[in-house]
Amino acid sequence: MKNKKITRKITQGMYVLTTNGGGCIVDAVSQISTGDNPYISVAVMKNNYTNELLKKNNKFALSVLGMNVDPEIIKTFGMNSMKKVDKFKKTETTEVEGIKMINDSLGYMLCEIVDSIDNDTHTLFIGKLIQADIYQDKAPMSYGYYQENKDELLKVTTKKGKTAWICTVCGYLYYGEELPEEFKCPICGVDKTLFKKEEK
Ligand SMILES: Cc1cc2nc3c(=O)[nH]c(=O)nc-3n(C[C@H](O)[C@H](O)[C@H](O)COP(=O)(O)O)c2cc1C
Repeated sequence: MKNKKITRKITQGMYVLTTNGGGCIVDAVSQISTGDNPYISVAVMKNNYTNELLKKNNKFALSVLGMNVDPEIIKTFGMNSMKKVDKFKKTETTEVEGIKMINDSLGYMLCEIVDSIDNDTHTLFIGKLIQADIYQDKAPMSYGYYQENKDELLKVTTKKGKTAWICTVCGYLYYGEELPEEFKCPICGVDKTLFKKEEK
């Protein structure tokens, strides 16, 4: 492949995907039909706890993140697992039909899960839109913008005097001179070739 980064030019947005009991940041969202109740798909990594939850639930929601979103929301939902951290403890939400929507968003789409397709790494959940609202009519954040600006947005601070490796996909920090053999990001699952060394 000459340059796979062209895939970053597929315009995707930034969302908090929520379901009963958890949620995470996603960008892999598509509208796949039109009409009053369009179908919307979201691809969720199998090693995310949210995937496990979605298999037990019949609804998911997508809160659309704007350019003005507090980056803490991205850190909380995209760089932690609900298995270890209660992401909703420090995030203001509003419940709609039992699912939590993120208040610091442009609005939400609530879907009823109608189908799912598994591949090796992800499950594609397909939902039918059953409720939706706009909170703020502002510009959405694109995944491309996040990728280009994540250092500034997340202002990663490494401990002085320590070498750290940063995951260029999700921002996870690994402290140590070298990454272990066969290392994979514990948060987003990418392999070590996608880590960048930060010497401080
Ligand atoms: C910018 C960004 C985009 C992401 N996109 C996706 C995605 O489309 N699908 C996915 O499954 N995980 C995606 N993730 C990773 C999850 O949000 C992350 O692994 C999260 O910690 C999982 O939490 P959980 O274990 O509570 O489900 C993304 C993370 C970031 C920071």
